[in-house]
Amino acid sequence: MKIGINRENAPGENRVAASPDLVSKLASAGHDVVVQSGAGISAGFPDATYQQTGASLADSASDIAESSDLLLHVGKPSDDEIGATRSGSALATILDARRDTVTIDALASAGITAFAMDLVPRTARAQSMDVLSSQASIAGYKSALMAANALSRFFPMMMTAAGTIPPARVLILGAGVAGLQAIATAKRLGADVYAFDVRAAAGEQVQSLGAKFIAPLDSDDAETAGGYARAQTDDENARQRRFLAEHIVRADAVITTAAIPGRTAPLLIETETVEAMRPGSIVIDLAAETGGNVEATVVGEDVDVNGVTVKGPVNVPSSMPYHASVTYARNLESLMTLIIGEDLALSIDFEDEVVDAMCVTHDGEVRGHTIGR
Ligand code: NAI
Repeated sequence: MKIGINRENAPGENRVAASPDLVSKLASAGHDVVVQSGAGISAGFPDATYQQTGASLADSASDIAESSDLLLHVGKPSDDEIGATRSGSALATILDARRDTVTIDALASAGITAFAMDLVPRTARAQSMDVLSSQASIAGYKSALMAANALSRFFPMMMTAAGTIPPARVLILGAGVAGLQAIATAKRLGADVYAFDVRAAAGEQVQSLGAKFIAPLDSDDAETAGGYARAQTDDENARQRRFLAEHIVRADAVITTAAIPGRTAPLLIETETVEAMRPGSIVIDLAAETGGNVEATVVGEDVDVNGVTVKGPVNVPSSMPYHASVTYARNLESLMTLIIGEDLALSIDFEDEVVDAMCVTHDGEVRGHTIGR
């Protein structure tokens, strides 16, 4: 089949959906792979590398979309690409499927069979195609580096001729995929790391990384059957913020990663708490794009609150585009084993729970059960 890889449309997006390694595997399997010129440059993959691995190059995103049986993207395709795509062909990309109903409706109207990489089930079988994990790991790693870089203190303890310097105290709120990677990275940099999560199971994972788990004595385990956290009640939220405030004011750097799938991020830190932190401290809000865990966060900006810097970074995985693209491409490769048959044509089996969960549009319809319609 013909597989197209287009340049990303979102401003500041440096990732590309397919690495040369993936292109090489697809071409060896007998697929006809076409890459839009310049698609991989920001990720460190020049056009020539794709050509050497068996792809052909083309200039027009619409022409590639029109001629492809399967189009691969990182973010949503442009309106022109959707307009050009043939009915009955397929798309795999991150779609923000629970919120961006306009794009989902447009894909259905165009007759595109769309797979939302962000709807990957969190099961052992789907782990190899889990873009939420591959990209959140990068965000977590980078958040610790951002904190270390912005802080006016050392992360590690230093014994120098000029005296002994204590390690920085780093607090991570939300110990899921991103939070655990932030903890591991801050530990490697020598910080004294504390972490909190509303899921009790996170405690053991935090401790296995050598960090200290903090939790209020009277809290309930908030893990749902699906492994995610449930939203907290207003009363639980208020108690949690009071409990956390005592730890936040003692931290040099706080990294927040708390999220509830399909909802606005929970508010964990009020501005009065940031005002009580030591000047020079840093807060990194990795939940900035979904509403923010920190009241003072401004999306995409650094805010100064009494000498404390609150950062609200956007699209953090794109700031490490090489490995973000390599791991994303491996996730796509894994999905493709489920949707391409031995005859190298699309073969979509809705009896497969992973295919069923990730396919959001097919045959001109929005597959409502997957995105809660
Ligand atoms: P996420 O991005 O939805 O949330 C991040 C973290 O925020 C979670 O640990 C959550 O418990 C926490 N959180 C939510 N509300 C909070 C609050 N008010 N205060 C503090 N923390 C709060 O979740 P993520 O990181 O995508 O993973 C969540 C779960 O999924 C974990 O249990 C993880 O082990 C599991 N998982 C399973 C996979 C698999 O089996 N294939 C793959 C990846 C993750």
